[in-house]
Amino acid sequence: MTKRRLGVGFIGAGFNARFHIRSWVSVRDSDILGIYDKNFDTALEASAIAKNLKVGDAKVFKSITEMVADPDIDAIWICSPNFTRIEVMEEIVSAIESGKGKLIGVCCEKPLGRNVAEAKKMVELVKRAGLLDGYLENQLFEPTVQRGKEIIWKRGASTAGRPYLARAAEEHGGPHSPWFWEGTLQGGGVMNDMMCHSVEVARFLLTDPSKPRNSITPVKVTAHVENLKWQQPHYSEILKNNSSGKLDYNNRPAEDYARAVVEYVDDQGEKLIVETTTSWCYVGAGLRLSMELLGPEYSMQINTLDTDLKVFFSRDVQGKVGEDLIEKQNAEIGLMPVVGNEENTYGYDVENRYMVNSFLEGKRPMENFEDGLNVTELLMTAYMSAEQERTIAFPPPGLDDFIPLVAKGEWNPRKKKH
Ligand SMILES: NC(=O)c1ccc[n+]([C@@H]2O[C@H](COP(=O)([O-])OP(=O)(O)OC[C@H]3O[C@@H](n4cnc5c(N)ncnc54)[C@H](O)[C@@H]3O)[C@@H](O)[C@H]2O)c1
Repeated sequence: MTKRRLGVGFIGAGFNARFHIRSWVSVRDSDILGIYDKNFDTALEASAIAKNLKVGDAKVFKSITEMVADPDIDAIWICSPNFTRIEVMEEIVSAIESGKGKLIGVCCEKPLGRNVAEAKKMVELVKRAGLLDGYLENQLFEPTVQRGKEIIWKRGASTAGRPYLARAAEEHGGPHSPWFWEGTLQGGGVMNDMMCHSVEVARFLLTDPSKPRNSITPVKVTAHVENLKWQQPHYSEILKNNSSGKLDYNNRPAEDYARAVVEYVDDQGEKLIVETTTSWCYVGAGLRLSMELLGPEYSMQINTLDTDLKVFFSRDVQGKVGEDLIEKQNAEIGLMPVVGNEENTYGYDVENRYMVNSFLEGKRPMENFEDGLNVTELLMTAYMSAEQERTIAFPPPGLDDFIPLVAKGEWNPRKKKH
């Protein structure tokens, strides 16, 4: 089935869905025509954003089934919380299998699942329904990542040899919604939440653009997780207060710092290294994404806080607390970096343009649910490594059934020490 315009419906209309909606001003041949959120008012707000931006006459639906059944909806973007993945995907598939509706494809935000079993279930469901699938890993689509990779491979690797080391980091002061902080709901702490980006963008940079994903193979994972900040009494109290008492970081913390080294070999047997680090305890101007790619005679680096636009406010400018300058902003005065177009810088524009085009052309996106599953497998091996305090050969036995202690609500580094 090929179409000229793609009608897209969103499941989940929170923080992330709004990034996608705002990015749609740069997406051609597609309209946002549906929104479903468990909270009806949130869906109404997101629909108003889409209408104001003229990116689609987004109708608010009362259920996923109703949205899939609407003939104007050709594809779904899943942007609801991690703990809803399977129920959401099962409802989409059930609506299709019972003949209530038809779709071309589904895109799913990171992570594809909270563990390998869930990610595998997502792959199985999408295949069973015969849908095209896109895994929404925006950092791969950052214009600087795409352009940097192109230049390094064309100029550097072709004359001096392939890159051998990629570094990626994502850091900020902590997530915006309480469910992210709860290991059982989110699937882990900062490692599951943000290292999914870093391992995948580093893997992408190291992969020869003319070769498939499996031209480099992960062989070993060594990881470390800690809680450095948010289990301190003052900060655990803040989390408790911000969650109406639900978050208990004295007894059920999640890691707020993680580091992993993934060792790969390429198709010539050469060793490649991915170094990633992520944290929810970085207090700088706001979200900082950094990437590096190094080879025998060259290197590249990206830091999203090295912005071309900076503003300065003296101490007499008593502005309101907000995120109007940068995502996860920490201050309102002094010299502040401003990302001119966050949807573009973080990759949402290019990602959504690419996914829409793939679906319209009836082609499976190059970043799909299998990639989401690969990322989950690496992250779960990283949790195993951190728990066992040793390097783990990939893939380890028992990976399919492994659930990290933090995702069971059983991880507490302070208890272990005392
Ligand atoms: N790519 C990125 O950089 C990035 C950034 C943020 C979040 N995310 C991912 O996007 C997803 C959503 O995160 P968020 O930041 O928007 O969270 P959020 O808490 O801001 O919003 C989640 C929304 O989903 C709704 N919801 C809850 N259960 C639902 C259900 N069963 N069906 C439909 N809607 C439901 C909530 O009412 C809420 O409006 C997560 O999986 C997260 O990991 C990705």
